[in-house]
Amino acid sequence: MARADEHVQTGLEIRKLTGTIGAEVTGVSLCDADGATVERIRSAILAHRVVVVRNQFIEPERQLSFGLRLGPFMTIPGIEANLPWRELFKITNLGKEKAAAEMWHTDGITLEQPPSFSILAAHTLPEAGGDTLFVDMGHAYRSLSPAYRRLLRGQRARHRAQRFGAGNAREVSHPLVRTIPETGERVLYLGAAPNVVDIEGMTAAESRPLLDFLFAHATRPDGMYRHRWQPGDVLMWDNRAAMHYAVHDYGDEPRDLVRMMIEGERPFEAPYAQEEA
Ligand code: SIN
Repeated sequence: MARADEHVQTGLEIRKLTGTIGAEVTGVSLCDADGATVERIRSAILAHRVVVVRNQFIEPERQLSFGLRLGPFMTIPGIEANLPWRELFKITNLGKEKAAAEMWHTDGITLEQPPSFSILAAHTLPEAGGDTLFVDMGHAYRSLSPAYRRLLRGQRARHRAQRFGAGNAREVSHPLVRTIPETGERVLYLGAAPNVVDIEGMTAAESRPLLDFLFAHATRPDGMYRHRWQPGDVLMWDNRAAMHYAVHDYGDEPRDLVRMMIEGERPFEAPYAQEEA
C-alpha cells in the first residue's frame, strides 16, 4: 500500500512515484527550506534517486542558494556558461540533431570527479512532450545474478568525451560498480553508450556484448521513472545512481530548463565482505 511519510513540523510529505525509483516531495517551498527540510530532501534523493517538487517557479538566484545547501557547485569543463550565473546552465532546444541528452547517460561521467546531484528547474515547456526518463542503477545492480555481480567485481570501463574538441579531449576509467559513500550501496555505473570505449583489459569485441547486456538490463521498464514536466517543477537526482534520457519529441517548440550540478567524489568500489553475494 502507498505510504505517505509525514513530517509533522513542516508538513513535508514524501510519496513514491513507482515501485523502484522516484518520489514526489510535497509541503515544501525550496526557497524557504530550513536545515531539517534540506536534509530530508537530501535523504529522499539518496533513497529514491529522483525527487520531484512541483509548483516552485524558482528563480535562478534562489535555485543557486538552495543548491549550495546540498553541496558545492561544479561545472563541466568545455561547456560554456550561458547564463549570468556561472554555477547554472540553461538547457534549451537546439534541435533534435544536436540533442545530446537524447540517449541514456550520466552527467559528467567523462570527468575524474563527476557530479553527485543535479537540480533541474522548469522555465519554458513545450505544449506536450519533452519528458525526462530515469533508471535506477542500484536496482539494476541488485537484479543481476550473484554470479554476474561477481563477474563485474573490480572491472572498470573507459569513457571518452566525444564532443569537446581537442583542447578538452578526455578519457577516464571508472569502476563498473561504484559505491555510494553516504549509504554504502553498490550501483551499476554506466554513461552514454557511444562514450564507453571498452572494459579495461578487454578487447572492444570482448567488451561490447557485456556492455550491450548491461545497458539493456539497466534500462528495463521495471527500474524506470518518466517525468512529465509541469510548469514550476524542480527535479533533483542522484547522478551517481541514476541514468537519464531527455526525449526530444517537441520539434521547434521552446523548452528551457536551468540546471545546477553538485560536486561529487571520485567513483570508487568499496572492498567486498566475504559473505557478500
Ligand atoms: C540533462 O541531461 O541534464 C538534461 C535533461 C533534460 O533536458 O531533461
